[in-house]
Amino acid sequence: MAFGFSLGVALILSVWLTANCTVIPDGALHMRCHDRYFMIAAELSFTGVKPRFEAVDKADVFPITEQYAAKCGYSVSVLLLRGQVELRASYFSCHTDNKDDEVFTFNFNLITTHEGKDVTYALNKTCSPSLPWSPREVTCEANYMEVSVRSEVTCPSGTKDDWNALKPAHSSITSDWQVMFQRAEEQLPPMNMSIARKQGYVFDVTDGRVVFRTRYGQPDSFNTKMNGVPVEVVHATLFSRQSWIVLMIDLVAACSMYEGSYEDSGYMVWEIPEVLYPGLDSTQLSFGLNGELVEQAVAEDKGYIVEKHNATVEISIPHDADGGYRKSVVIDKLYEFYIFHLSFEQILVDEDRLETRVRFQRTLATPLLPRPVFTENQIVLEERTFTVYLGGVPADVELAAIYLNGQECTAPFTNASRHNVTQVVHPNNTHGYILKVPFDDPAVQLQFYKEAAVLEYGLYINFSLTVVPENMFYYHLASIALTTSVSPPAFDAVCSESGISFKLDHRPYDYLWEISIGSDLLTSELAAQHGYIMSNDSQSLLLDVPLFTHGYEYKNITLEEFFGTFEILVRDPETSEVQSSTVKTCPFTATELIMCSTDGRMTVVADLPLAIPDGDPARITLIAPYCGPKEADGTRVLFSFPFNSCGSTVKLGRENVSYENEIFYSHLNMNETLSNTTERVKIQCTYPLAGLHRLFSAYKFESDTVGFGKIIHTTEPLSGLQSPTIRPTVALTTTWAAKRPAGTPAAFQPAAHPPARYVRVSSIRNLFSGLRKGASQVKVDAAQL
Ligand SMILES: *[C@@H]1O[C@H](CO)[C@@H](O)[C@H](O)[C@H]1NC(C)=O
Ligand SMILES: *[C@@H]1O[C@H](CO)[C@@H](O)[C@H](O)[C@H]1NC(C)=O
Ligand SMILES: *[C@@H]1O[C@H](CO)[C@@H](O)[C@H](O)[C@H]1NC(C)=O
Ligand SMILES: *[C@@H]1O[C@H](CO)[C@@H](O)[C@H](O)[C@H]1NC(C)=O
Ligand SMILES: *[C@@H]1O[C@H](CO)[C@@H](O)[C@H](O)[C@H]1NC(C)=O
Ligand SMILES: *[C@@H]1O[C@H](CO)[C@@H](O)[C@H](O)[C@H]1NC(C)=O
Ligand SMILES: *[C@@H]1O[C@H](CO)[C@@H](O)[C@H](O)[C@H]1NC(C)=O
Ligand SMILES: *[C@@H]1O[C@H](CO)[C@@H](O)[C@H](O)[C@H]1NC(C)=O
Ligand SMILES: *[C@@H]1O[C@H](CO)[C@@H](O)[C@H](O)[C@H]1NC(C)=O
Ligand SMILES: *[C@@H]1O[C@H](CO)[C@@H](O)[C@H](O)[C@H]1NC(C)=O
Ligand SMILES: *[C@@H]1O[C@H](CO)[C@@H](O)[C@H](O)[C@H]1NC(C)=O
Ligand SMILES: *[C@@H]1O[C@H](CO)[C@@H](O)[C@H](O)[C@H]1NC(C)=O
Repeated sequence: MAFGFSLGVALILSVWLTANCTVIPDGALHMRCHDRYFMIAAELSFTGVKPRFEAVDKADVFPITEQYAAKCGYSVSVLLLRGQVELRASYFSCHTDNKDDEVFTFNFNLITTHEGKDVTYALNKTCSPSLPWSPREVTCEANYMEVSVRSEVTCPSGTKDDWNALKPAHSSITSDWQVMFQRAEEQLPPMNMSIARKQGYVFDVTDGRVVFRTRYGQPDSFNTKMNGVPVEVVHATLFSRQSWIVLMIDLVAACSMYEGSYEDSGYMVWEIPEVLYPGLDSTQLSFGLNGELVEQAVAEDKGYIVEKHNATVEISIPHDADGGYRKSVVIDKLYEFYIFHLSFEQILVDEDRLETRVRFQRTLATPLLPRPVFTENQIVLEERTFTVYLGGVPADVELAAIYLNGQECTAPFTNASRHNVTQVVHPNNTHGYILKVPFDDPAVQLQFYKEAAVLEYGLYINFSLTVVPENMFYYHLASIALTTSVSPPAFDAVCSESGISFKLDHRPYDYLWEISIGSDLLTSELAAQHGYIMSNDSQSLLLDVPLFTHGYEYKNITLEEFFGTFEILVRDPETSEVQSSTVKTCPFTATELIMCSTDGRMTVVADLPLAIPDGDPARITLIAPYCGPKEADGTRVLFSFPFNSCGSTVKLGRENVSYENEIFYSHLNMNETLSNTTERVKIQCTYPLAGLHRLFSAYKFESDTVGFGKIIHTTEPLSGLQSPTIRPTVALTTTWAAKRPAGTPAAFQPAAHPPARYVRVSSIRNLFSGLRKGASQVKVDAAQL
């Protein structure tokens, strides 16, 4: 307790400014007549930290030292938390001009030091306390005990005193006043007034009263405990023998020395035994802070609690009572303490209703109480922002800086672009700060826990708080982690006329996956190689996949339309395992296309140079005349057939195997053959040998990859039919398509070619009828084997 107080003193002492003028500024000085004392309060900002007082009377000037104050009824205290120095002077203090115990005139000098020079301010005030003096008045001041009794007393109903104890008075041979102290049961030898004064006791006689004052801890007083409460008692008996009359005045002051205790419930408790003055009954209590006395009931309305336990009166002051002072302190941790300047008055009466008024001035201080500031996590997941509330910050503590994962952001925070700090002030004299840090802030640490498929956002905050005005620093640490389950990235896809567009908005943790097309990692090189249009910035990845580029699959091919499907795979970079995929299927139209499936099937939409004769598609066939189109319209036909049928020929090369067929017109109106040239429509699928299985061991086609398809439109002169050379005019080709992923059906992995413009020449198809021999022919190029 004392520690907290003196620490506070030391801390605050260093910060007060000294004023620099000799006129007392407005509001810097207050003088007030209280019921039982006169008070001067001066602002420390005006007086500096070490003001001095002198008591002035007609004769002289008396510096009020600590010792002199206790002896003469002055009490000076520097109240750092209040920012004042306070002098309280008893109405019976040594150098006060007392007229009839009714008008009291005080004269003081206040001496302050400015720039090494003393400046003296003469202060005076006259007080006439309105409260009449009780027959007996006891004051337990901070530094002394004072008792005054009315010197004229109407004779009480009887005396119960032990006359034996007063023997020395009886046997006294001098008329001079002497004093005799009693300690507990022990009677001390009498001493004359001059000895008593030397020992620091003051006896005084005013118009109507006898006054006795002593500092605490004199050898003639004694300390005891009443009901467990420490009490100091001084019991002096003044006597004078005047012939056969012995005058005796009994002067007793008993003061509770209880320093106060702090209850966890938040109350500062002060105790006073009921039996301080045996034989008297308490009639009335009043108390309050900073010299303001209020009656018990009023105080109780304000939250004070008065209880009697074990013949002890307990007064409980709420820690946040008005008029209390609190201060924050840092000693490794953040603490606070409270100081209360308690005034207390008790009226006691004896059986003749003679009043004793007992007054206390006590300063109570709580011990250092831990003052936890706290952080609350107020994450709003949708905002993707850490919102941290730092609360319970006392009024004399400010946020100086914030360290986020060691990175400093110093106050003021008004324009911190990424982190936002707002202050929240509460009516109970605490405040808080709201810190907002977006998840994508560089200070936020990301950690991926693969097994659990969760991502952890971690924020380690070191709040740097400072206690003002001393600038003691305190660091409050908070570490916040938020885990969210994460899913592999998924693209948005939209169809366009010419292809499919994919879009991926980047997330900070997308690096945890890799993106591939088939088995190939998507890179800008891959995109360039396959003709994808890729753009990638910090926000998003855009991938435009034009129709007929590598990676498409085609389905439900009709002459009107077909469906193209493109798939983007998301893989675990370590295991290459596919974690998710985005598949988009779009309807397209094209004049021509060819697909060579992995199960040995060719599907072709071909645009023929001549209108289909008589609109009868049956007249258009492959090499085998029984193989007609599945569909046909004005000039376009759709064929779909296995390689091992329809008269296809196989050409086996060193690396590739090719299957070829051709589209013919049969039963042509000869008139149409008049043209001197014809156009041949050859269709071809080529597969790399390495990717083929069981081509020769079983009569079954199975390829790892779709084939490379071509529709070859050639024009050649009629006579040129015999010529071994064929000039290709336009060759519509496909590219190698993606490898068939394991587990997907082998059927229907098409390849296609981009729509092409080509020269259309009238042709006579039946000139090729000689080739129509039914079953496939195998032409092995011996030179290449
Ligand atoms: C008391 O102080 C006032 C100024 O506050 C001054 O005018 C007056 O002369 C003083 N009286 C005495 C007796 O010093
Ligand atoms: C007081 O008592 C002391 C010793 O007991 C003595 O020396 C002194 O003279 C006395 N003073 C008076 C004023 O009687
Ligand atoms: C109550 O008072 C008695 C003596 O009167 C004392 O022995 C006892 O310890 C006290 N109890 C408390 C709790 O102070
Ligand atoms: C803070 O931001 C406001 C408006 O955004 C601007 O006017 C002001 O100058 C900024 N203050 C500092 C210190 O950057
Ligand atoms: C900080 O937050 C407050 C309240 O949410 C908002 O009004 C203010 O614009 C924010 N400032 C910055 C710099 O983001
Ligand atoms: C002060 O008020 C705030 C808001 O009402 C509350 O959260 C906080 O606990 C209070 N603090 C104290 C010390 O009473
Ligand atoms: C908090 O920040 C202060 C100032 O940088 C530093 O001295 C202190 O060690 C930090 N505390 C912790 C636990 O990191
Ligand atoms: C796209 O850019 C981001 C960085 O902006 C990078 O992490 C990512 O690997 C890039 N993706 C591709 C496919 O190039
Ligand atoms: C393809 O045709 C089949 C059978 O007619 C149908 O079930 C399927 O939905 C079609 N696919 C598309 C992409 O339209
Ligand atoms: C096999 O086909 C591929 C693709 O058309 C081609 O690049 C390669 O030259 C062919 N190899 C042979 C020997 O014909
Ligand atoms: C062949 O065409 C000529 C002129 O174009 C025409 O006169 C003749 O009748 C046609 N022959 C047949 C069999 O259609
Ligand atoms: C082929 O017929 C065209 C007109 O259709 C003609 O110009 C050309 O000379 C003919 N060529 C031959 C070799 O008959």
